[in-house]
Amino acid sequence: MTSKNTAIVIGVGAVKGLGASVARRAAKGGLHVVVAGRTESRLKDVVASIIDAGGSAESAVADATDESSVAALFRQAAQTGPIALAVYNAGNNTPGKLLEMDASYFEAAWRIGCFGGFLFGREAARHMLPAGGTLIFTGASASLRGRAGFGAFNAAKGALRLMAQALAKECGPEGLHVGHVVVDGGIDGEILRNRFPDFAAAAGERLIDLEGLAEAYWFLHQQAPRAWTFELDLRSKLESW
Ligand SMILES: NC(=O)c1ccc[n+]([C@@H]2O[C@H](COP(=O)([O-])OP(=O)(O)OC[C@H]3O[C@@H](n4cnc5c(N)ncnc54)[C@H](OP(=O)(O)O)[C@@H]3O)[C@@H](O)[C@H]2O)c1
Repeated sequence: MTSKNTAIVIGVGAVKGLGASVARRAAKGGLHVVVAGRTESRLKDVVASIIDAGGSAESAVADATDESSVAALFRQAAQTGPIALAVYNAGNNTPGKLLEMDASYFEAAWRIGCFGGFLFGREAARHMLPAGGTLIFTGASASLRGRAGFGAFNAAKGALRLMAQALAKECGPEGLHVGHVVVDGGIDGEILRNRFPDFAAAAGERLIDLEGLAEAYWFLHQQAPRAWTFELDLRSKLESW
């Protein structure tokens, strides 16, 4: 493999998903991208979409909630060149009323929504410092406000955001730019279109554009060390907020 700078994106599934879109944008920007998720066949499709577009990528099967799996992912990525960009995108929505919720469900939501972010962020900082680079966490509307029926997701995403903020303050002065992106609304991707087709059809243009989101991640990565943004919030023009 080349000594080209590397990006890692964990939480990659559908070709038409945020993880894959961020990976494609990083490859377009010249990085070799390691796309990570739990399903090899889906990762291979994403890698093929990057290579077809002239980029460089490889897949890595990894579970964001498993400490040794995250460590192995970073070891794999580091073999291809210095890690310049790392993105934690795992953490799918976990709806449900708190009063009716099993403890195991709440804990599982926290493991993927927050704990995995800690494992990934810690490993990223260990590999990327002292050289520096960009580490970005994906948030949601749930990161900023509690909502009936989404308590587990709120708890996980809210905690992820504050963990990211603490990491930004801990590692920023050493040269690691930590960012958090609040995706404030539904994404126009495979997850909503497949799982909630009626909602997606009704939302139409209110859904957030994947390429626009990916550009925002790349924008954060391009920022100069004396003009860093910690948080961006993105929504479609039609979203009421
Ligand atoms: N979709 C929305 O409308 C929406 C709205 C606001 C915020 N967000 C945020 O956007 C991010 C996801 O983007 P997306 O919805 O477009 O989905 P996506 O990027 O298409 O897919 C995310 C992928 O993460 C993988 N994943 C889940 N658990 C994992 C784990 N433990 N370890 C490694 N990978 C794991 C899943 O694939 P495997 O099952 O194959 O591993 C999943 O397909 C999440 O942080 C979510 O909270 C989404």
